Amino acid sequence: MGRHCWRRRLLAAACLGAALLLLGAAPRALSPESKNRALGSGWLGEKKRSPLQMLYDLDEGPLSALAEVHRQRRDLLHRACSRHTRRRRLLRPEDLRHVLVDDAHGLLYCYVPKVACTNWKRVLLALSGRFGGDPRAIPAHEVHAPGRLPSLADFSPTEINRRLRSYLAFLFVREPFQRLASAYSNKFSQPYSAAFQRRYGTRIVRRLRPRPHPESLARGHDVRFTEFLAYLLDPRTRRNEPFNEHWERAHALCHPCGLRYDIVGKFETLAEDAAFVLSLVGAPGLRFPSPPARAKAAATHDQAARLFQDISPFYQRRLFNLYRMDFLLFNYSVPSYLRLH
Ligand SMILES: *[C@@H]1O[C@H](CO)[C@@H](O)[C@H](O)[C@H]1NC(C)=O
Repeated sequence: MGRHCWRRRLLAAACLGAALLLLGAAPRALSPESKNRALGSGWLGEKKRSPLQMLYDLDEGPLSALAEVHRQRRDLLHRACSRHTRRRRLLRPEDLRHVLVDDAHGLLYCYVPKVACTNWKRVLLALSGRFGGDPRAIPAHEVHAPGRLPSLADFSPTEINRRLRSYLAFLFVREPFQRLASAYSNKFSQPYSAAFQRRYGTRIVRRLRPRPHPESLARGHDVRFTEFLAYLLDPRTRRNEPFNEHWERAHALCHPCGLRYDIVGKFETLAEDAAFVLSLVGAPGLRFPSPPARAKAAATHDQAARLFQDISPFYQRRLFNLYRMDFLLFNYSVPSYLRLH
């Protein structure tokens, strides 16, 4: 068992404990007894090791190439957090809305839209045994129905801390501008997102287009990428409400510097990373639904490059600054098509 890892995790949980304390929650002391519980004695009656224990077992022995990649990503995230976050904001339970909980397997998954989150939710539902255990058979509308999967925000601070200490926490991220390009094309330029276009598109047209056509005002169906970016950079946008989750920065959804994530999965290596997580869960027979083929991945890169080529360097720079933390924390390099200087 990786002792220092455990100590770090207890510390991270203690920090959250202190943060939640400010909300008037009951204090939670790290008693020897809670420590034992955190160490997982009694996990499913000793029959099975939890995913977190499996990961720490791996970390003790000679690391496989894949386990080594994940160790390095974890370390990089940790270093980037200490380097780039000055004052840590205290986390409240409602900040943990995106962290989904699987109590039966001891998993915490922070979902980031446009990063295979539908398929991850499918897998969590399949793990729960509902819907017959085949993730591919679960329709998307079932997956996103509210309350299907419990969120960490639904629990009391004590219950949150208990799960943070002993569950395997993971998230999946994606190159920020490819994610943004995917969100734009999925929500604004494809014909079947009428609800999104009505809600956000009409707002964007009303605010940013000098002489809008009445149909555009009513339907919000023809928002250009430049207009979408101008909306993101407009200070009024975030004054009243946070960004919609499809374009909110991954770090703002998942708080990777406030919570300790054991695994940082990447969309670019989705198949390998998903298989690694599932190998720790120990669910034989459960396969992650086929991720997009390489050709499709290349297409989203081209799509981002194409969309950004019409954007002025001034806007490119401001947009890069907006998403900068996601680039830094998850080790994405500045896209070659950007003109930042
Ligand atoms: C970070 O990115 C660089 C450049 O792509 C790569 O060489 C390096 O291995 C990455 N580091 C981690 C920890 O992923």
